[in-house]
Amino acid sequence: MCGIVGYVGKRPAQDLIYKGLARLEYRGYDSAGIAALEKLSNGSFVTRMIKAPGKLKELRALWGQIDFPSSHAIGHTRWATHGEANQANAHPHRAGPITIVHNGIIENHQLIREELAAKGVSFSSDTDSELFGHLVRAERESGKTLLESVRLSFRRIQGASAFVVMDERLPGTIVVVRNGSPLVLGIGEGENFVASDVPAVLESTRNIYYLEDNELAELTSEQVRIYSLDGHERPLNTVEIDWALDAIDKQGYEHYMLKEIFEQPRALTDTLSAWLDLSQGRFRLDAAAVARKSKSDGRTLGHQEIVRAFCEATMVHVVACGTAAHAGYYGQQLIEKLARVPTRAELASEFRYRDPMLRPTDVGLVVSQSGETADTLAAVKLMKQSGMRVFAICNVRDSSIPRECDAVFYTNAGIEVGVASTKAFTTQMALLAVVACAMASHRGTIDAATEKLWVEALGHLPEVARHSLEQSADVEAVAKKYSKKKGYLFLGRGLFFPIALEGALKLKEIAYVHAEGYSAGELKHGPIAMVEPEMLVLALAPEGRGLLHAKTVSNIEEVRARKGTLLSFCAADDNQLKKISDSWIEVPPIGVTELLPILTVLSLQLFAYYVAVERGTEVDQPRNLAKSVTVE
Ligand code: M6R
Repeated sequence: MCGIVGYVGKRPAQDLIYKGLARLEYRGYDSAGIAALEKLSNGSFVTRMIKAPGKLKELRALWGQIDFPSSHAIGHTRWATHGEANQANAHPHRAGPITIVHNGIIENHQLIREELAAKGVSFSSDTDSELFGHLVRAERESGKTLLESVRLSFRRIQGASAFVVMDERLPGTIVVVRNGSPLVLGIGEGENFVASDVPAVLESTRNIYYLEDNELAELTSEQVRIYSLDGHERPLNTVEIDWALDAIDKQGYEHYMLKEIFEQPRALTDTLSAWLDLSQGRFRLDAAAVARKSKSDGRTLGHQEIVRAFCEATMVHVVACGTAAHAGYYGQQLIEKLARVPTRAELASEFRYRDPMLRPTDVGLVVSQSGETADTLAAVKLMKQSGMRVFAICNVRDSSIPRECDAVFYTNAGIEVGVASTKAFTTQMALLAVVACAMASHRGTIDAATEKLWVEALGHLPEVARHSLEQSADVEAVAKKYSKKKGYLFLGRGLFFPIALEGALKLKEIAYVHAEGYSAGELKHGPIAMVEPEMLVLALAPEGRGLLHAKTVSNIEEVRARKGTLLSFCAADDNQLKKISDSWIEVPPIGVTELLPILTVLSLQLFAYYVAVERGTEVDQPRNLAKSVTVE
């Protein structure tokens, strides 16, 4: 939440900051601002600042005010926590010569505000962030260096935060610090960057340093120095990023979300291929992609240790938020069903506060696209404290969650820009299926023939997903037809229940309509009261046969009897379901029915997308949301 960019070098900084912020706008778009240092004719520097509520493009109207050569600037795009999204609360914030941008929350802000007010400080915003600038200013006025002032001020505050600070009396130097909120440093030739995330600097450099919690850095155009919060210098161990730049362009699609939906066959291939030994019909657990971790003082577990942890697990705790939690619910069912290990999937925000019973022999499995979600990160720390092995399924390399875990299984979905998660979700589901099968194989709860069936089906998954996406015109047609309904009820059972939740979440977040995901069996325990012609009921039952399918169909009959409008996601030959539905979308078959939810959700993503387009909402940047939820 909130995007930060800073630059020191020789090039005009304002454009670089603006472009960087554009790459980070997914992190928040309530307001934006840039501060740059301007050199006066007498050789001194002054801070010029532009800020505007709303999206980044609103800043363009103010561009003339910072249209001077400056090679030292910082910028910010905001997701509001303290104080409404107006001009005064937009970052950067100034305290005399000090200017700061902030991502996070100062939890003890009230105390600090009172203390500063008692000393006669007056404030120009309602934000907690501004206070940090005043703390730094006070330290500077008592004669400390900028680095020391930031270090001492940071020790005063509580909560997860990242700050970037400049001082107009120290042109060409930026000091940054973080704990809990991400910051990366981009190391260039005669120029250096700081940002909340790698895409902001990727056009200028691929040489990245991931700042650790409680680390500070001092950047000039020629040098970057890293320090711990107790003042000791640390080595600058950078990594080379190999992400393709075209991944962060729309490539002709109207929205990132649509592009990312259509990227899923490729994302699934890139995620799954390292795990599948198609010639032997076995899962490969020693694949290079299996486990990686880069924390300098940490160690990645070898695959034997990972296998042992899973095989000997007394319980698996799957923990995540939002869409990733829906993938977790799917994974829970598969792990229990295939590997026969008690497994519990739950929301990180609940897990961390309910004092869960955890044993060192339990295993944690957290799921996160960004690797930065505050609640999920806190859940990892809680599980680690109880001596458990904790593994991550994550999309963003070297982000905070993987670095806290014992090993990470990466989804190779590529950069996901759309705030509504799509390709990260299906790759998480696919990887959870791999984990469940691999555990089952090692624990001896599935035989070689079953393992082969799964390996083959997962091998076909990308191709079948492509085939499913070819029906996008049909999905668009039904989405248009039903885009103005009063409400949307997604019904599924078993492995289709998590995607009923996900289908509803997608629709809520991008189309701003009331939608709910329900277990079909729960219908008559309450939600059936809402059924009437203006309520669209979406029935997720593409298995075409089996006990649960029969049960779902009879639940759907109950909807029919009450004149609900019915859109089914079904097998091509399921004439029984088609007969009682107003409309239907076919889901192509695949070797194991447990993978059908992954194929079905593709159509649910498209449905949400086309309903949102029809309703004219902001698909890629839905109101009030941000992609990385780095605050509680
Ligand atoms: O980065 P994470 O996967 O940890 O994020 C979790 C949720 O914030 C995220 O899935 C959110 O629900 C998305 N907006 C859903 O589309």
